[in-house]
Amino acid sequence: MTTPLPIDFRDSSNIELANLGQNLALIVDPAGKLDQQLRKLDVAMRKSLTRLLESEAWLSARPGGVLTLGFPVGITATQLLVVSLPTRPSVDEARAAGAALAAHAGPGGLSIFAGHHTRVEEVAHALALRSYAFSDHKSKTPAPRGQVVFYLRHPEVVARAAAPLAALAEGVFFTRDLVNEPANILTTTEFAKRIADMADIGLKIEILDEDALRDLGMNLLLAVGQGSTSPTKVAIMHWEGATDTEQPPLALIGKGVIFDTGGISLKNPGGMERMTMDMGGAGLVCGVMRTLALRRARANVVGVVGLVENMPAGNAYRPGDVFASMKGDTVEIISTDAEGRLLLADVMWYAQKRFKPTHMIDFATLTGNIIAALGSEYAGLFSNDETLTAWMTAAGRAESEGIWPMPMSPAFDESLKSLVADVKNKGAVEGGAIIAARFLSRFVADGTAWAHVDIAGVTSLKGQSRLAPAGATGWGVGLINRLIHDHFETH
Ligand code: BES
Ligand code: ZN
Ligand code: MN
Repeated sequence: MTTPLPIDFRDSSNIELANLGQNLALIVDPAGKLDQQLRKLDVAMRKSLTRLLESEAWLSARPGGVLTLGFPVGITATQLLVVSLPTRPSVDEARAAGAALAAHAGPGGLSIFAGHHTRVEEVAHALALRSYAFSDHKSKTPAPRGQVVFYLRHPEVVARAAAPLAALAEGVFFTRDLVNEPANILTTTEFAKRIADMADIGLKIEILDEDALRDLGMNLLLAVGQGSTSPTKVAIMHWEGATDTEQPPLALIGKGVIFDTGGISLKNPGGMERMTMDMGGAGLVCGVMRTLALRRARANVVGVVGLVENMPAGNAYRPGDVFASMKGDTVEIISTDAEGRLLLADVMWYAQKRFKPTHMIDFATLTGNIIAALGSEYAGLFSNDETLTAWMTAAGRAESEGIWPMPMSPAFDESLKSLVADVKNKGAVEGGAIIAARFLSRFVADGTAWAHVDIAGVTSLKGQSRLAPAGATGWGVGLINRLIHDHFETH
């Protein structure tokens, strides 16, 4: 498991900047006004700090921009980083600074003088997130990272603000590890085991095996996993943190296809290795549940994920097959590659029948079509509830995690009509992400406020992004954590 690098907050009042560490970073307001400690450092450095702050490069630096001095004269540090950041930065500006600093947090450690700046906890959070590296399968173990220490006024206040963010970073790392893990290692059994291990941090865990799923009538979910030697499972994670223990929970549902070959409707081989991320919805739910437990959130939340592998085999399900869902609706399989909606239909129905949630949100790497529509900047949001839509888009803006509302007109149901069953699992290609959402909407009970989030485009990227290296992003853990904090917790 990849754990966030430890970050310390210490009092800056009695430190001698000229003698501090190997790598020293100064967070300085763009106006470049030096306080007493920085003036003293400047003198020790024979005014080279002043020179830097009068340079064209400094004046044109953006918030979070870093200028570097190598082997600066007069101080012990071998490298001095000067970070441009307003004294009262926005969350985004503070996180930009932290992301930039991550590149410099190496084996030698990093001492950061933050002076009088606010939102230092957000700088630290971004530094932690951007320092993630998935190196479990590299035979050469990476050099251990040195200690990162922020020096500032009132370290205890900042440390208190940083604690829930550290819980969030752990959740994000948990999601990223699951998404990055190859399918020969993250089998359905291993996935369930990693979830069961979260009993350690106070989550109540249940794992349903195939016999239990058969008794429940979850035939759509079982059909998807029929051709795999990895047994299909459903994992349930309970977090009961509300002061009112009777409070009905928020339900988070995740698509956990550990590998999607397409099944008998086999995918093209080019790029198929990326389908190891097809459990991203389940990974996201697990990361959120981990965060809630670590920060002891005052809300009742239940996470339910369907863990399954979509394989072609002699006993695999096929196009033309008909299955009865747990709800009772019958489904004609047109493409075995439209498997996500099948498992979600049963898992969502089960969660609603058992837990009677007021709100239910499902997450799934559901369609290539949403990538055509929104690229990798925005997840697609489909909902039957305007308030929930507004809450989620606001949480996304606050966390800089893109999410965009998509239409849900019943007009899109036309192409799902089946001759032999109640519905087909695949309709027209055009508007495919919306059609998939319409399919899911059949399995939403009356009165449930529901949102479906298609995360196919945002879960794992070829290149690096603002707060993540290439690969799994951990998109959405921050957004959903904030949504729960703002609307589902008693304060
Ligand atoms: N897991 C895929 C969707 C996907 C595509 C995720 C690309 C991430 C990147 C999903 O199961 C799938 O195969 N969807 C089909 C649906 C179609 C058969 C109706 C698709 O998008 O082509
Ligand atoms: Zn899939
Ligand atoms: Mn598929």
